[in-house]
Amino acid sequence: MNITARTVVAGVVGAPVRHSLSPLMHNAWLEKAGVDGVYVAFGPPQDGFRAFAEGLRGGAVRGLNVTIPFKEQALELADDASDLARAARAANLLLFHDDGRIEARNTDGEGLLQALAVQAPGFDAAAGPVTVMGAGGAARGAIAALLQAGAQDIRVCNRSLDRAQALAEDIRSGSVTALARSDLAVTGAACIINATSLGLGGGPGPDTPWRLARPGCVAMDMVYKPLRTAWLQEADAHGLVTVDGLEMLIRQAVPSFRALFGVEPPEMDMRALLLASGAGG
Ligand SMILES: NC(=O)c1ccc[n+]([C@@H]2O[C@H](COP(=O)([O-])OP(=O)(O)OC[C@H]3O[C@@H](n4cnc5c(N)ncnc54)[C@H](OP(=O)(O)O)[C@@H]3O)[C@@H](O)[C@H]2O)c1
Repeated sequence: MNITARTVVAGVVGAPVRHSLSPLMHNAWLEKAGVDGVYVAFGPPQDGFRAFAEGLRGGAVRGLNVTIPFKEQALELADDASDLARAARAANLLLFHDDGRIEARNTDGEGLLQALAVQAPGFDAAAGPVTVMGAGGAARGAIAALLQAGAQDIRVCNRSLDRAQALAEDIRSGSVTALARSDLAVTGAACIINATSLGLGGGPGPDTPWRLARPGCVAMDMVYKPLRTAWLQEADAHGLVTVDGLEMLIRQAVPSFRALFGVEPPEMDMRALLLASGAGG
């Protein structure tokens, strides 16, 4: 890589951030596309995110993907935000414009929909109830995108019911219901999404009464380490169509790359590259 005075700099910010796969993805695309750019990881202290991001106003860095725990703060400090970021109340992408403005976007939901389109091609958000396990930032992004895609009946099931209720109230759409009981949330579901952090690093996912889902139901797990989570294996054993979190990770990076570097990511087998690097292991 030939770094020059013209090299465009972008990156990812989080705490912790050293495990992030985003630098691997974006730098592979940059190299293949022959773009004079570099994508690095920034790990400011937990209480230092605002000062860090404010200091980038004016475009010294073109933009940043934002990960845990800064997604909500990223939206708060932005001057403009996309509808999806506003609806999700969280941003996973900040763009630093030359005039000093900071623009917030959320590409997580788009990543989710694209992953469903790739690994469960028959999925139609409007075709039946969608159950979202979890009510954190990832669940919010998913629900905003599912509503945009035409979902009519979204059930949010979370350990802390008050958080699910707050989410349903914020979204202010009659299509979103908060439920504490997983049996009620899963009955007749056409799609079940694990948006909790359960299963991360191994171990069980959220307790899910698979038999109550409708035939042909899709199970999507946002957790991608391990790639075949115990939750996805259970879903598979019950005959559900499964979609993994690595596909979502790759698909959310596509619109990010486009926004950061102004070109489409080049054709390449990103999934194979990530798996070869040990992602999902
Ligand atoms: N594949 C991708 O591209 C992608 C993108 C974004 C996020 N993710 C993944 O999605 C997951 C959630 O991320 P997030 O940003 O939404 O995190 P978050 O805001 O911290 O929310 C965590 C969620 O998990 C639930 N939870 C945590 N521990 C639990 C337990 N022991 N039992 C039951 N529920 C539990 C929480 O429930 P309470 O409200 O009750 O605490 C909450 O609903 C993470 O694993 C993240 O890596 C993946």
